[in-house]
Amino acid sequence: MEGGEKKGYGISSVCSRISLSQALVLCLCILPASVHAQCEKKPVIFIFGDSNSDTGGGSAANGMTFGPPFGRAFFHELNGRLSDGRLMIDFFCESLNASYLSPYLESLGSNFTNGANFAIGGAGTLPRFKAFSLDVQVRQFVQFRQRSLLLRSKGYASQLSEEEFKNALYIIDIGQNDLSAAVTQHLSHEQLIQNITTFITEIKLAVLGIYKSGGKNFWIHSTGPLGCLPQKLATTPPRNATTDYDPHGCLVPLNNAAKEFNGQLRALCKELQTEMTNATIVYVDVYSIKYNLIANAAKYGFEKPLMACCGYGGPPYRYNPNFLCGGGRATACDPGQRYLSWDGVHYTEAANSIFAANILSTNFSTPPLNLNFFCNA
Ligand SMILES: *[C@@H]1O[C@H](CO)[C@@H](O)[C@H](O)[C@H]1NC(C)=O
Ligand SMILES: *[C@@H]1O[C@H](CO)[C@@H](O)[C@H](O)[C@H]1NC(C)=O
Ligand SMILES: *[C@@H]1O[C@H](CO)[C@@H](O)[C@H](O)[C@H]1NC(C)=O
Ligand SMILES: *[C@@H]1O[C@H](CO)[C@@H](O)[C@H](O)[C@H]1NC(C)=O
Ligand SMILES: *[C@@H]1O[C@H](CO)[C@@H](O)[C@H](O)[C@H]1NC(C)=O
Ligand SMILES: *[C@@H]1O[C@H](CO)[C@@H](O)[C@H](O)[C@H]1NC(C)=O
Repeated sequence: MEGGEKKGYGISSVCSRISLSQALVLCLCILPASVHAQCEKKPVIFIFGDSNSDTGGGSAANGMTFGPPFGRAFFHELNGRLSDGRLMIDFFCESLNASYLSPYLESLGSNFTNGANFAIGGAGTLPRFKAFSLDVQVRQFVQFRQRSLLLRSKGYASQLSEEEFKNALYIIDIGQNDLSAAVTQHLSHEQLIQNITTFITEIKLAVLGIYKSGGKNFWIHSTGPLGCLPQKLATTPPRNATTDYDPHGCLVPLNNAAKEFNGQLRALCKELQTEMTNATIVYVDVYSIKYNLIANAAKYGFEKPLMACCGYGGPPYRYNPNFLCGGGRATACDPGQRYLSWDGVHYTEAANSIFAANILSTNFSTPPLNLNFFCNA
């Protein structure tokens, strides 16, 4: 997938493909006024994370392609995303009139003039030094920065400058895979909290590493409600069928683990903000955004918020770890049906566009800065 492809303003193109009444409901509530402020400097973005943000890095690194029905809602061709269309990061780029971010590892058609995407599907904060954990992604960034500056000093004017690296936005959205692994280990509450602290420490090291390289603008996402994923619901036997599910049908212990992670992450952002002179750190409560949409799915015209669109098996979850979306035995919902979960783990483009609009509203950000604060400073 070409990184430098031109696209229209994403939210209006979402609207053009759904019915008028849906469009009115959707667009009236998701078009955020705040994103229209013009960037004064060229927006440059770097993102670190997992498949929630991976725009093709994992596909390139592992030599894997995600064929139809992946991409059926937007790209209509191989694009390396684990969704039917755009991810939150794609909508962020559109809101800034920037091209989609090329994956750092994509050797064909990449264009890094507006940043790079280091996120890789399956990545976690741990284990360290293993492809492509967060510390490796940050080391890749440091190498990318050194190479860019070296080439620039040799006359390659299209490489990013030191000033552009300094003014860039650094986004981190990671932790879901670490948590996912931890909750299957039947740890005690204390052990789980201890494990989560080790994940948060890795995020701290990542932010400090980027800061040491001159980065100063950070945008940090909390992790989503793990216990609402069809994958988790279909494969986690409840310890107590009465107390383990919340009123919306999500697994309480898994969501509590996500909340513990987020509490520590929020505290970390506060701590780093006082430690890092001249840096700006925005913490975004992505958990609440995702949970609110799951809880109010019907209001937004979504069907069965806990069931995957693409997978194997019937209700309630349509998820079978042996027959995943993209495999021969999996089937996908009708393209006209609005689902939140694409494949049991990843969200649909329709869901991602609403998540992005909520994030762009700043209603869930601490402090409530617009996404484009970094290109206007
Ligand atoms: C993006 O382009 C539109 C239309 O030209 C403009 O109104 C808007 O201010 C731009 N947004 C940014 C963040 O530059
Ligand atoms: C890379 O993208 C920028 C803008 O995003 C564009 O101006 C430039 O022409 C592109 N370079 C190549 C080689 O495609
Ligand atoms: C999680 O906790 C268990 C039990 O204390 C421990 O064996 C394991 O090493 C921990 N994992 C991490 C990543 O901290
Ligand atoms: C489940 O929890 C409820 C409420 O605490 C309790 O009354 C019930 O005995 C528990 N069931 C099992 C199987 O542990
Ligand atoms: C912070 O910014 C001020 C004003 O731009 C500058 O003088 C100072 O050196 C900066 N401090 C650090 C640690 O970067
Ligand atoms: C953000 O909050 C304002 C004020 O409460 C509200 O009017 C607006 O609809 C909210 N936007 C989103 C996307 O939630």
